[in-house]
Amino acid sequence: MSATSVIGLQWGDEAKGKIVDLLTAEHDVVVRYLGGNNAGHTVVADGETYKLSLLPAGILHPRVVSVIAAGVVINPKALLDEMDEIAQRRGPIGENLLISDRAHLIFPYHMREESVLENHRKDDAIGTTMRGIGTCYRDKAGRTHAIRMGDLIRPDCFRRRLTDVLEQKNAILTALEPGFQPFDFETLFDEYRGYAEKLERHVTDTTAYLHRALDGGKRLLFEGAQGSLLDIDHGTFPFVTSSNSSGCVVHSGSGVPERAIERMIGVVKAYTTRVGGGPFPTELDDEIGQHIRDVGREYGTVTGRPRRCGWFDAVAAGYAARLSGVDCLTVALLDVLSGLDEIKICEAYEIDGERTTDFPSHVDDLARAQPVYRSLSGWKADITTADSMADLPAETRTYLDTLSALVGSPVEIVSVGPDRRQTIFA
Ligand code: GDP
Ligand code: IMO
Ligand code: MG
Repeated sequence: MSATSVIGLQWGDEAKGKIVDLLTAEHDVVVRYLGGNNAGHTVVADGETYKLSLLPAGILHPRVVSVIAAGVVINPKALLDEMDEIAQRRGPIGENLLISDRAHLIFPYHMREESVLENHRKDDAIGTTMRGIGTCYRDKAGRTHAIRMGDLIRPDCFRRRLTDVLEQKNAILTALEPGFQPFDFETLFDEYRGYAEKLERHVTDTTAYLHRALDGGKRLLFEGAQGSLLDIDHGTFPFVTSSNSSGCVVHSGSGVPERAIERMIGVVKAYTTRVGGGPFPTELDDEIGQHIRDVGREYGTVTGRPRRCGWFDAVAAGYAARLSGVDCLTVALLDVLSGLDEIKICEAYEIDGERTTDFPSHVDDLARAQPVYRSLSGWKADITTADSMADLPAETRTYLDTLSALVGSPVEIVSVGPDRRQTIFA
């Protein structure tokens, strides 16, 4: 058994894409097992930048099999657009992409429903990516209105399923949205059958494939999406995504047993970011926050929204590390902090005068949490060409040691720039 899992320990965008791409060299299969095109994973390969939403980062390595497993929700149009772009830039995608027949599908009505529901929350909006992710997962849990990839590739089955579902979706949207024009059955049916014809050759029982791959001694790499603090059960509910996004879902999303995962790598940024609504104790609403946003180019990969930026929160990241049981940490975007005189790490919260290192389970308590900071000296040197820990300034190493001690996990990989080469193995 030899599988590695890469999990984000913050609110997403921790540089999972870069790390998965880097680790792909020592694996045979890369698996996406949750989320959908709410994810945006950046990989800089051979001097070119790729933004991947649904395709596993392994797709840039033709030797490797890329699997979109059962737990992913798929917008087939978005997937085909992404496949076309990769095909144009890297050559055709063939047998090396497998898509689960159990994966659930996103339809245009999911986006419309989400838009109505999010707008209804007004000032308290979750700030979703509006990709129909939550409404699709809701239908999956509800079962009656769910349509899976395995249904889509069977024309008669798909016709039956869409007939059942569309009538009620049109009725619901007509009630919710003034002026709503109902979706036309034949138009939507033909559109999705067109997608099915293009995707069909990749669609298979990926769970069975992964079991065979494990038996055959293949090395699997699980590409986490979103971040642990966006986990629907363990994150900052309701300002979360609609699936489990901490390490606890690798098994249910892929069908691969828990004990197959030998190494769980937690990825953090050297600071914290968040897109969308919800409390964020270490948020910096000042010139340092803006500096981090500018230097780190902190604008959403998927929606282009400016990301909220703040100091590293060791209470939150430590909680996430324990949730997933990570073996080690990757600290990314460390270069972004160069040039600051002082750098702070949140080591505890004060809530109503009480000091705690527990991450609050209720969002209202988190909203009242005042960060207790440890102040460290910054460093001035450019670290983007550092090759080893010894190349880093003493202050940078102290920062990493402090972060590691507060999170409770050793730092094994440090990223000092977006390129593959800008990586230090500690
Ligand atoms: P993901 O969703 O976790 O894969 O992360 P994103 O791709 O959404 O965001 C990470 C961003 O940081 C991307 O633009 C990466 O190219 C960039 N990046 C990754 N590692 C580093 C690093 O060490 N330093 C800098 N400056 N940028 C990085
Ligand atoms: P990657 O994989 C950052 C956030 C959204 C919103 C909340 C719910 O690139 O790290 P959703 O559309 O999922 O219902 O939105 O979750 N979110 C992410 N934030 N990175 C992501 O993915 C995210 N995926 C969802 O911004 O706050
Ligand atoms: Mg991202």
